[in-house]
Amino acid sequence: MRPEGLKTRIFLDGGDPGETREVLGLLGFLDGQTTNPTLIAKNPDARRRLEQGGKFSAEEIYRFYKSVVREISAFIPEGSVSVEVYADRDTTAEKMLLQGKEMSSWIPNAHIKFPSSREGLRAAEQAVREGLRVNMTLCFTQEQAAAVYAATRSAEKGTVFVSPFIGRLDDRGENGMDIISNIIRMYSRGDGHVEVLTASVRTSAHMYYALKLGSDIITAPFRILKEWGEQGLRIPGDAYEYNAGTLMKIPYKEIALSKKWQDYNISHDLTDKGIEKFSEDWNSLIT
Ligand code: G3P
Repeated sequence: MRPEGLKTRIFLDGGDPGETREVLGLLGFLDGQTTNPTLIAKNPDARRRLEQGGKFSAEEIYRFYKSVVREISAFIPEGSVSVEVYADRDTTAEKMLLQGKEMSSWIPNAHIKFPSSREGLRAAEQAVREGLRVNMTLCFTQEQAAAVYAATRSAEKGTVFVSPFIGRLDDRGENGMDIISNIIRMYSRGDGHVEVLTASVRTSAHMYYALKLGSDIITAPFRILKEWGEQGLRIPGDAYEYNAGTLMKIPYKEIALSKKWQDYNISHDLTDKGIEKFSEDWNSLIT
């Protein structure tokens, strides 16, 4: 059962509907799920097919993604399911938007994931105008989160998520959790139309600190949610302290939310690398 006093929504990060079912059984609730091309490439049916030497055609892989997303959505009809567009370094906003519209029609509860890149933001700006819900992924900086805020200014609360990837910052020695607290602090001066979705969660400590910081949403892999269930769905109190060890602090910056999104410096090498890896993993499934 959902613990009393839990304000943060809890999502599963994964591409296997079997995990969705199991998490629901373990926790007694689940508020949503996030998927991405890498996670779909790890889906057991996709793996089996690849191991038997059978790849997918470009059309088959979309049909496969759709069936996975539909299965997940059926488990959590009241929740949100994030579905990611294919984007490589040359994919235009127009192409992303076309995919996003198609993917939105797959299920009634989709948030469409666009990268926090120039083309991704351009796609998101138009997508929210057309009534799509979006989840801006591969976010690594406060500037990118400010640009997401600005590009989606016309949107209603609940329709826009920003996904800062904390684990990938930790991986290179920076304290990813700082990005969560910095974005929450920056957004506290805004109108609340963008919700912070803590992503790339690697440890229970990430989850506990994101809960303490009041992240709107946390998406965590099966292993972490299982651990959380085993720990009695604990919600950390005010006394909880996150130990960042030797990770380098990411300082807070005063950034106005009033600028045009094009005026923020949104480039980040991890966004570029993330786009490259997602497209590689997706292409590895296709003949
Ligand atoms: O939700 C984003 C997540 O899937 C990325 O996690 O572990 O690949 O950095 P990771």
